[in-house]
Amino acid sequence: MAVNNAMTADFLRSAYGGESMAHMRYSIWGDSAEKDGFPNIGRLFRGIGYAEWVHAKNHFNVLKDQVGDKTVVAGAVFGHTNIVENLQGGIDGELHEIEQMYPVYLETAKFQDENDAKRSFHYALEAEKIHARLFQDAQADAKDGKDISSEVIYVCPICGFTEIGNHVHNCPICGVKNDVFMSF
Ligand code: FE2
Ligand code: FE2
Ligand code: FE2
Repeated sequence: MAVNNAMTADFLRSAYGGESMAHMRYSIWGDSAEKDGFPNIGRLFRGIGYAEWVHAKNHFNVLKDQVGDKTVVAGAVFGHTNIVENLQGGIDGELHEIEQMYPVYLETAKFQDENDAKRSFHYALEAEKIHARLFQDAQADAKDGKDISSEVIYVCPICGFTEIGNHVHNCPICGVKNDVFMSF
């Protein structure tokens, strides 16, 4: 894995920063969901947080030959109030990635013929579309004071694909067999 162009490398570092912060934020919001009596939304935050860890790791690995210190600038949602607002933070962050960040990063990687970055951005973009929907569904339940279903949440360790209950045989994003999925 490698990257050759400075602009794609900058976007990989920024995406790495954003995913790392999302991973941490979802872990904090997951703890608080559990404390507030929503254990299944807590697992959703933790499962999606793991998917963001997968994205951060993929971006980091594409950058593995870029040795040295860098200052990373990346967007992040702040705030820690109640479950409905925390889920809104999740929705806002995912939609930013879907509508702004990853499409631009992916087009840049395509323009610069950066195949490893293209794969890493593509995996993240497709997984974030699912994350936004899962957070929206969970928020609708939380607004009614209800937790989501207790079904196991599965996450692909290659691309971050996420589903509630295991319905796919092969990952619809990266194609790997579902027996490698992590469960939450
Ligand atoms: Fe992500
Ligand atoms: Fe996400
Ligand atoms: Fe996958």
